[in-house]
Amino acid sequence: MVDISVSIAGLHLRNPTMLASGVLGMSGKLLKRVASAGAGAVVTKSIGPKPRPGHPNPTFVELPYGYLNAMGLPNPGIDEFVQEIKIAKESGVPVIVSVFGQSPEEFAYVAERAEKAGASAIEVNVSCPHAEVGLIGQDPVLTREVVRSVKERVKIPVFVKLTPNVTDITEIACAAEKAGADAVTAINTVKAMYIDIESAKPVLSNKIGGLSGPAIKPIAIRCVYEIYESVRIPIIGVGGIQNWKDAVEFFLAGASAIQVGSGVIMGLNIFRDICGGIKRYLERKGFTKLREIIGLAHR
Ligand code: FUM
Repeated sequence: MVDISVSIAGLHLRNPTMLASGVLGMSGKLLKRVASAGAGAVVTKSIGPKPRPGHPNPTFVELPYGYLNAMGLPNPGIDEFVQEIKIAKESGVPVIVSVFGQSPEEFAYVAERAEKAGASAIEVNVSCPHAEVGLIGQDPVLTREVVRSVKERVKIPVFVKLTPNVTDITEIACAAEKAGADAVTAINTVKAMYIDIESAKPVLSNKIGGLSGPAIKPIAIRCVYEIYESVRIPIIGVGGIQNWKDAVEFFLAGASAIQVGSGVIMGLNIFRDICGGIKRYLERKGFTKLREIIGLAHR
C-alpha cells in the first residue's frame, strides 16, 4: 500500500488534494460536501474584514482553454463567516481560511478571527489579479509586512498565495519565507482579458480578470519549479489541474500538495480520481510514499 498522506507545516492531510480558494468555498455545507467527496483539505473563498459585494456581472466567462473571472472578492465579511468555518470544521478535514484586507492590520484581524473560529491554517491572498490586494503580492516589501503582521497574531500555519503576474516569482516567495510564512501556494490566476468582437467591448464588467484552467498549467508548473529551487518551505501547487497526471507533474516540479480550482466543474469525483491515479502511478514506478517524488524533476 502506498502512502499519499502529507504534512504541511504540521498540518496533517489524509491525501495531498485540497479545494482551491474561490470555488464552492463560501458555504460551510458546500465545504463539507467537498470533504466528503475526498478532498484532503478545503480552502474557503477569500474573506475580508467586512461584507463586500464584488464586481457587477458579468464576472465569469468560459473560454475554450480556461475560465476568466473578475468576481472582485465578494464575501460576507469575517463576522458573518465565522459560522461557516464552524460548519466546515464538522467535515473533519483541515479548513484553511483564505484572508485579505486593505492593510497588514486588516489581514491580521481577519486571520485572528478565523483562528478563533477554528481555522486549521490561514492562506493569505495577496495575489488577486483584479483587486487592490494583487498589488501587495507584486511587491516583496509589502508582502513581507502583511505576512509578518499575520504571523504575529496567529499560531496556526500561514500559507501565502502567490501571483504569477510578476517578473520573478521567487523574489516574492523568498520575501514570504523570510517573513515567516509556513508554505506558499502557487499560483493565483493569470491577468487576462476577453473582448467580444460584435459589441467591441470587454466582456467582464471589470474589463480585466484572472485566467484559470488548463491554459495556465504550464505557467504554474514553471513557477513551482522555480520556487522549489529558491525556498525551503513547502509549496502547494495550483493552476489548471484536471486529473492525476497534472497532479503528479506538480509533485515532480516540487509541490508537496495540490489544489483543484476550476477542475471541480467536472464534478467532485475529481478528488478521489486524482488520489487513485497518484497511488497507481507510485505503485507502477516502485515508490511507497508520495514524498519520494516531490521535486524529482530537479535531479
Ligand atoms: O475576485 C475574486 O474573488 C478572485 C480572487 C482571486 O483570484 O484571488
